[in-house]
Amino acid sequence: MFNAEKHEQFKDLHKVLLTEEEIVAKVMELGAKISADYAGKDLILVSVLKGGIVFLADLLRSITIPVRFDVVGASSYGASLTASSCVKITKELDLDIRNKHVLIVEDVLDTGRTLQVLMDLLKMLEPASLDICCLFDKPIGRRVKIDCKYVGFELPDEFVVGYGLDAKEQYRGLPCLGVPKREAIEKL
Ligand code: IMP
Ligand code: MG
Repeated sequence: MFNAEKHEQFKDLHKVLLTEEEIVAKVMELGAKISADYAGKDLILVSVLKGGIVFLADLLRSITIPVRFDVVGASSYGASLTASSCVKITKELDLDIRNKHVLIVEDVLDTGRTLQVLMDLLKMLEPASLDICCLFDKPIGRRVKIDCKYVGFELPDEFVVGYGLDAKEQYRGLPCLGVPKREAIEKL
C-alpha cells in the first residue's frame, strides 16, 4: 500500500516493531469481528484526536456493516513526552450517541487515564452500549483499570511512533510502528 521506507523519517527509527502489512492485517481482522458483533445495530465509532484517526480511517473501511463516526479531542501528553495525570477534553462530539452503540477507537492505551476520562464523559450521554477498540496496548504502563473489548497488539513499555502516534506532532504519517532513535527525538 504505502511504503514506510520511502518516508524521510523512516531513518529516525531505531527499530520497527510492526510493519504496515502486519498492522493492516490486524485492522482487517478487527473490522471483521466488529462487523459480526454489531450486525443489525446502530454503530458509532468515536475516535480520539489526533493519534486515533489513522486507525479510524482504516478500521472504518474494514467494517462491512453501516457505521458512522465522530471524533473527540483529548490531550494527556501536552507538548512533553511524559504522561501527565491531567487529561483535557479539547473537542466534544457532534453526533447524538443516546441509545446508540458506541465503540471508542483509540490508538494506544498506556496509563489508561485518557480512556477513563472519556468513558466517564460518554457514559453521561446514555449510549445503548459503550466499549473500546484499542490498536496498541502497553499493559505495563497501566495506572487505572480499563476493559477493552478489542485489542490489536500488546506492546512493550517503550515510546513508539508511526501509524498516527507522534513525538511532538512528528511521525504520525509513518505507515509502520517503531521506536524512534533518541537523537532524533532530542532534535525535535
Ligand atoms: P494514557 O492516557 O496514558 O493511556 O495515554 C494514552 C495517550 O497517550 C494516547 O492516546 C497517546 O496520545 C499517548 N501515548 C501513549 N503512549 C504513547 C507512545 O508510545 N507514543 C506516542 N503517544 C503515546
Ligand atoms: Mg491519542
